[in-house]
Amino acid sequence: MCIFFVWGFLALFLSLATFSFALDNGLMRTPPMGWLAWERFRCDIDCKNDPKNCISENLFRDMADRLAEDGWKELGYVYINIDDCWSSMERDSQGRLQADPTRFPGGIPKLARYIHDRGLKLGIYGDLGTHTCGGYPGTTLDKIKVDAETFAEWGVDMLKLDGCYSNATEQEKGYPLMSAALNATGRPIGYSCSWPAYQGGLPPNVNYSLLGDICNLWRNYGDIEDSWASVLGIVDWFMTHQDILQPAAGPGKWNDPDMLVIGNFGLSVEQSRSQMALWAIMAAPLFMSTDLRTLSSEARAILQNKAVIGINQDPMGVQGGRLLKESSGIEVFWRPLSDSASTLVFFSRRTDMPYRYTTSLGKLNYTAGVYKVYDVFLQKTMPMLKDSTEFTVSVNPSGVVMWYLIPKAGVWEEGARYPDPRHRSRVTL
Ligand code: GLA
Repeated sequence: MCIFFVWGFLALFLSLATFSFALDNGLMRTPPMGWLAWERFRCDIDCKNDPKNCISENLFRDMADRLAEDGWKELGYVYINIDDCWSSMERDSQGRLQADPTRFPGGIPKLARYIHDRGLKLGIYGDLGTHTCGGYPGTTLDKIKVDAETFAEWGVDMLKLDGCYSNATEQEKGYPLMSAALNATGRPIGYSCSWPAYQGGLPPNVNYSLLGDICNLWRNYGDIEDSWASVLGIVDWFMTHQDILQPAAGPGKWNDPDMLVIGNFGLSVEQSRSQMALWAIMAAPLFMSTDLRTLSSEARAILQNKAVIGINQDPMGVQGGRLLKESSGIEVFWRPLSDSASTLVFFSRRTDMPYRYTTSLGKLNYTAGVYKVYDVFLQKTMPMLKDSTEFTVSVNPSGVVMWYLIPKAGVWEEGARYPDPRHRSRVTL
């Protein structure tokens, strides 16, 4: 038995095509991509005993080297983002934040230069409140201006503003104030707001249209952990509330289900593909939080899959979602892409064996016609499909089959082996 959730994608597409109310800094027209320290490296400040993994300038330099030298940068992974525990426990004599002098002896400006010299961007972490979640100095309302100016002077390109140790009233004042203060510096600084996550992620406490005006991305929900249960919990919450979340996203303004934990210890290869596929469906920011120095070749292949990245980065920027939930445990996700392309993800919640799922494009709401199909993880063009033709996909437990589809009359980029919406010239269908 199928339960269909049919939403007004057409109406949404038309409204997004006509208007864009995103934060007016011109940044992040597609979901930002890069590396973020938190999930993998947390608040490890023990550089004496754990010098390779502690939060220090060496860790960020190492990761910048990897992004620049191992093919990540070319794929769009350009942000190197510091999270909590980077600062000294005290502000300096002028009341400015300062990096911990033993772990960041060159200070943030020197690290920013190192990162910029490699064609990358630097993100930093702050917290609207008396303290960061890890207990470091926070940004109270009176410090917003000076902290924005400090970050801009240092050459920071993105700020994640967390919300520990502040109340709802302070957040309502502080998040818009920081947005204005960052704009006033004149330096383009992407702005990631944790505000909705502290207010339950849903209206009426969360005003998504305001968030779209003041932030480039925002955390809606709790922290990801290195486990499949954590990934599933996030996916469930985002899909349960997709009708609210999906219209909030668009070029320059993104829902953020949190970091990719692919490459760590908690996900199997199947589950890693599932996280990547579902983050692409959600038009989610792609911040890896893993040790790029020791990444397995399987994890690298998933994170560097050009088709899934191209789908995530589709320029139309419409977030997709769950189309249906079968009683068999198979779920189908769909996202519309530019130039009449789309992506389908068949996802299995089963825990027994590969499941053979039979359907047709017509049953999945596709309009009549013939479609070209590319299997994203097999990296293979499949036989063309008529909307009425029944087909069967075999989906592994906790795994996905992910397809990129275009109407037969369309072309994906001339001569390329994989469909990449970023590089596909406009086509008349
Ligand atoms: C909160 C955030 C996390 C991380 C930690 C740092 O929990 O949601 O992403 O930044 O704080 O302490």
